[in-house]
Order: sequence, then C-alpha cells, then structure tokens
Amino acid sequence: NTVPVVTIDGPSGSGKGTICQLLAKELGWHLLDSGALYRIVGLAAERKGVPFDDDAALADLAANLDVEFRPGEPGEPSAVLLDGEDISNEVRSETTGTLASYVAVHNPVRDALKGLQRGFAKSPGLVADGRDMGTVIFTDAPVKIYLIASAEERAERRYKQLKAKGESVNLAALLKDIQLRDERDMNRPVAPLKPADDAIVIDSTGTAIEDVFKQVLDKVKSTI
Ligand code: C5P
Repeated sequence: NTVPVVTIDGPSGSGKGTICQLLAKELGWHLLDSGALYRIVGLAAERKGVPFDDDAALADLAANLDVEFRPGEPGEPSAVLLDGEDISNEVRSETTGTLASYVAVHNPVRDALKGLQRGFAKSPGLVADGRDMGTVIFTDAPVKIYLIASAEERAERRYKQLKAKGESVNLAALLKDIQLRDERDMNRPVAPLKPADDAIVIDSTGTAIEDVFKQVLDKVKSTI
C-alpha cells in the first residue's frame, strides 16, 4: 500500500505549477513544489554569502534549511518562511528562479534535498511539481506528466503572473531568461530536465489551462 504519486515535470512557465495546485485540490492530496526548495537554497546562499560554485557548502546549507511551508487560505498561495522570516514574495521572483538554477546543477545539493522531497509522499497521495520528479525522485509514480509549451508562450504567461504580482518585468528579457534557464536545466549532467520514458507529454501551447487540467485529471482518474 504505497502512497500514490503523480509527477508533473516541465520547464518554467509550462503551467505545471497551476496544474499541480488544481490537481492537489481536486484530489485532496499533498503538494510538493520542489522548485521552491531549490529557490530557497539559492536565496539562502545569496544571503549568507555562500559562493555558487562551492557545492559542499551549498549542500550543507540545503541539508540544514530552517524552512517552513504554511498553507495559504483557499485561493491564496502558501507562505514560505526561512529562518522564521516570510520570504514568500522573494521566493517566486524571476531572479530567485535563476539563483535556483545555479544551485540545482550541483549533485550534492540535489542529494541533500532528496529525503526531504520524498518525505512529502504521505497518504492519501502526492502531486509532485518539478524537473526530475518522474526521472529521479519518484521513479515508481503511476502517473507521470511532462508539460511543455513554446518558449514565447511560457514567457508571456510568466509575464502576466509577475505583472499581476506587481513585479516590473520586460517581456523580451523574460524570454531570454527562460531560454537560458531551460538550457541550464536541460544540459546539466545531473538530473537534466527531460521526460521520463514512461511520461505522457502534453503540449499546452495555445490550450486553455482548464483543458490541460482536464486531460491530466482524466489520466489520473483512469490510472489510479
Ligand atoms: O519550478 P521552478 O521555476 O520554481 O524551479 C526553479 C529552478 O529550480 C529550475 O529552473 C531548476 O533549475 C531548479 N529545479 C530543479 N529540480 C526540480 C525543481 C526545480 O533543478 N525538481
């Protein structure tokens, strides 16, 4: 009686964050936002002055994070606390996403976060959002989804999200950022971003998020 896990991997802006939240809510399952963990390590490293090429020190930071996730009110995002301080807004910024992708290339950092991530798999089930959920962390998951969309559309989605949060953003710069981050995530030697062999690839370019969600939910319901 293992806990069922649905993994949803894909690049930044592919819609996986939204799909994971909707799915976890619909099923009443736990949610793992693994990107938030890498973002927190990136932010903590910057704040503590840990060099981004010192993989041992970064791994030590990752292994000893004083982090707390506080579920938000319905419809509100959850809060993230680092050393007791609410860093929710900083965590989701584009700058922090880039810091995350720098710390995420180091295998010792990824190893340090493995146990923490697997600990999220609790009854009645888990929806896991990330880059390597299906390929490394939850290889036995019965449903694996790999979400993609064109870089242009992903940049536009991120642009709208960041704008709605009051961040000043430039669409062209965002597209460049997304392309560079994709490149780093896809070409790193450890846990590169790619679909698991048994993943279902869904291209959401030009598709409403509700329709993508319906496809994913149908797949989950017919499998689990
Ligand atoms: O998904 P999100 O944009 O929050 O992820 C931020 C960065 O963290 C990614 O660009 C990637 O470099 C890293 N990451 C990762 N493995 C995961 C989740 C995120 O390497 N499972």
